[in-house]
Amino acid sequence: MKGIILAGGTGSRLYPLTKVTNKHLLPVYNKPMIYYPMQTLIDAGVDDIMVVSGRGHAGHFLELLGSGAELGVRLTYEIQDEAGGIAQALSLTEDFVDDENVVVILGDNIFGSDIRSAMESFNSGARIFLKEVEDANRFGVAEIDGDRIVSIEEKPHIPKSNLAVTGLYIYDSRVFDIVRNMKPSQREELEITDVNNEYIRMGEMTYSVLDGYWSDAGTFESLFRASELVRDAAME
Ligand code: G1P
Repeated sequence: MKGIILAGGTGSRLYPLTKVTNKHLLPVYNKPMIYYPMQTLIDAGVDDIMVVSGRGHAGHFLELLGSGAELGVRLTYEIQDEAGGIAQALSLTEDFVDDENVVVILGDNIFGSDIRSAMESFNSGARIFLKEVEDANRFGVAEIDGDRIVSIEEKPHIPKSNLAVTGLYIYDSRVFDIVRNMKPSQREELEITDVNNEYIRMGEMTYSVLDGYWSDAGTFESLFRASELVRDAAME
């Protein structure tokens, strides 16, 4: 399976930390942020990975990660010229993925769970990873009925559950046709939640609930919390 790390966006919520560097290069405890999603993919056995970044500071990713040889993986780089949403960034990877299944991880998501078995049991359709949180209105939120996902709402005012949709997704290669047929949201972006709702509509979405820790790191509070989670895990 191919792996994608999405590291675009302007990091505006972290300004001025992101004035002269990229959000995904900021420290989370003792490593640059992007090392964590990279390690999540590596631990799951993915060794052919594309990093999609924005134009600003793109060269710094190359300097930091190089060919990937030090990490034992093969890295390829792609540039998202303008912020057009997570799904738009994903569409740039179509030639790289080349009809295989693909695991996509957001560059600011820090996971303490092993996803290898969820990946190995994946055949087709899509799979998302949910985590119980207290501030679900900050995320995509899943409505569940037994084993079935009913829908996902992006940043709802009144969440239908406390299950956040984390920034980790597995898709078959039909994902690129789905993105091609999508329309931009009110904020003029192609939303990953719309992609996921299309798989739900097709009856081809499965999910896992994570038991390890999880945090995004795109706000001051969550960046701070991510560092604490990683430090606590390192001390165990
Ligand atoms: C994105 C997704 C959201 C998801 C979150 C996870 O939101 O749109 O569904 O829950 O990542 O980090 P963002 O934080 O980019 O606004």
